[in-house]
Amino acid sequence: MSKQETRVISVSRREDLPALAEAARVIRGGGLVAFPTETVYGLGANALDPAAVGKIFVAKGRPGDNPLIVHIAREGELDRLVTRVPDRARPLLARFWPGPLTLIFPKQDHIPAETTAGLPTVAVRMPAHPVALALIDMAGVPIAAPSANLSGRPSPTTAQHVLADLAGRVDIVIDGGRTDVGVESTVLDVTVDPPVLLRPGGITREELEEFLPDLQVDTGVGGLPPREDFRPRSPGMKYTHYAPEAEVVVVEGPVEAVQEKIRDLARFYREQGLKVGIMASRETAAAYGEGEVLVVGGRDELASVAANLFASFRRFDALGVDIILAEGFEAVGLGLAIMNRLRKAAGYRIVKAGEG
Ligand code: TXA
Ligand code: MG
Repeated sequence: MSKQETRVISVSRREDLPALAEAARVIRGGGLVAFPTETVYGLGANALDPAAVGKIFVAKGRPGDNPLIVHIAREGELDRLVTRVPDRARPLLARFWPGPLTLIFPKQDHIPAETTAGLPTVAVRMPAHPVALALIDMAGVPIAAPSANLSGRPSPTTAQHVLADLAGRVDIVIDGGRTDVGVESTVLDVTVDPPVLLRPGGITREELEEFLPDLQVDTGVGGLPPREDFRPRSPGMKYTHYAPEAEVVVVEGPVEAVQEKIRDLARFYREQGLKVGIMASRETAAAYGEGEVLVVGGRDELASVAANLFASFRRFDALGVDIILAEGFEAVGLGLAIMNRLRKAAGYRIVKAGEG
């Protein structure tokens, strides 16, 4: 892609929303606009324009067989995208939209194959962010948007992360500050009954189970290594994801054992001359002494851990560490999404502490 100039529009207050008119024009004209959502920044284009959607794949270096999420601003827009809204999806829409829940529906023919990577289904979500909603409304078209990072890099939670990856590759970056949730939306397939959780995210499995007691969970959601015969239902699940430049090792188990194992591993790697980063929690950080220790949150503050996770990967890269030793968290509530991202970033280098 030829280098182009990327403009930055800052929108920090409601009064700034009119400045989005220019970004909306760019979307309508077939350009690329990165924008904040409540989860992570998205890289948006007109979802109904195959050429515009094609630019997303080029800018990110994204494999063409990984479909995009289509973002809408009003529930009524769903009827123009899908052929059917299954009965079991209705209460989910009522409860979780706008919000970090993406649902898979059977698609209407006019949605380009580029957007859905040739699948007969389409992923749709209504983001809970005033800037995203205003942009979609002003553009007057649904916006296809993956996370606004280079393919394989950690998802961006600030406009600076977006610019670090995509400056010169997109027309506009809308700076709306830090995103709130920090991990991507939950992806749920409602074309099948019972529905299947394909990617854990901002809406927890337990929250979904209140509506769907028979919820099925796809292999890979826990972020554990795929079996030989693994056939992902969500194409995005098969790619290495979220990875910083440094190697990541996740250490899981009872917290005291985790601390001890991380101290041992840190010593071992330092003896080999490697620069070690430790992703710690508030309760444990002091035990690691010197070195590059980043606190992502308290052990019981999973919302804070999720919000800081991707930013800390990027911070460790900026610090030039060779290896990141990350404390594991219990895979319940938001912990499931956190562990899915951590284990994938680790390329399944998982150490169990305190066993045997
Ligand atoms: O929070 C989010 O979801 C962010 C913000 C920008 O909305 N977006 C995001 O998009 O994370 P992306 O492209 O990074 O992840 C989309 C995921 C991928 O795992 C993809 O394979 C899956 O959704 N997906 C999209 N369409 C699908 C479909 N028709 N069937 C199954 N999986 C689908
Ligand atoms: Mg992504």
